[in-house]
Amino acid sequence: MKNNSKIPKVTLVGAGPGDEELITIKGLKAIKNANVLFYDALVNENLLKKAKVSTLKIYVGKRFNKHAYSQDTINKMLVEYASKYGKVTRLKGGDSFVFGRGSEEVNYIESCGIETEVIPGISSALAVPSNQGIPLTKRSINESFWVITGTTSSGKISKDLVFGAQSSATLIILMGLRNLSLIMEEVLPYRPEKTPFAIIQNGTLPNETIIIDTIDNYKNVIEKIDYKAPGIIVIGDVVAEHPSFLEEEIQRVLERKF
Ligand SMILES: C[S@@+](CC[C@H](N)C(=O)[O-])C[C@H]1O[C@@H](n2cnc3c(N)ncnc32)[C@H](O)[C@@H]1O
Repeated sequence: MKNNSKIPKVTLVGAGPGDEELITIKGLKAIKNANVLFYDALVNENLLKKAKVSTLKIYVGKRFNKHAYSQDTINKMLVEYASKYGKVTRLKGGDSFVFGRGSEEVNYIESCGIETEVIPGISSALAVPSNQGIPLTKRSINESFWVITGTTSSGKISKDLVFGAQSSATLIILMGLRNLSLIMEEVLPYRPEKTPFAIIQNGTLPNETIIIDTIDNYKNVIEKIDYKAPGIIVIGDVVAEHPSFLEEEIQRVLERKF
């Protein structure tokens, strides 16, 4: 049988939200077959151990504006390594096409005449609340959920937030922790002040944390956030489904009264 591992090809794999077991079987196969692995900051590094010993493993992560390489350089490296080594697997956190710049990479690589494949991943936007027992939709509570960036490419918060706030949607905000005050001030005029919200950090990992409060109290949680860890903000009545919500609400009422 012909060995096609030297034929240039880049496979984008969504590595899932954090827990190494939350990758697809197809994604895992692409890791095992790779001659070169490029991986991002939020990829669980245990997944690298699934690759062949001979596989080149190259870190190209970006966190808090500290970039190992610019996006342009990453695009060029993917093409260069695929041309030289054949099968390249590009591992990205969550799903490559959810705030992951996956389509930019695909477009560039294909414009250079190299084949690509995209293997979907479980996005943190869905998995992190779900892992905490927070449903994104619940009959008679909400009719949709919106996944919004909390920091646009110009560093501002998205205009979509205000539109989402005016709907019944659960708002799931990625990359928004540093803009928490701005986000809450945008949402507060449109939602009841006792609307619950959650901040989940390091979701699906052993060091996962969750903070739950109501949006009128957001200033009380600012100090509790670990700004070095990835986190998502979930705003909406579905957060009240979290087992600790009622307990914390009772505690807050008691503290107010006595
Ligand atoms: C550049 S975006 C990439 C999203 C990714 N493509 C996905 O589908 O999950 C990175 C943001 O995703 C969120 N995120 C990713 N992994 C997370 C985790 N394990 N726990 C909490 N938030 C996470 C954070 O908001 C983080 O700043």
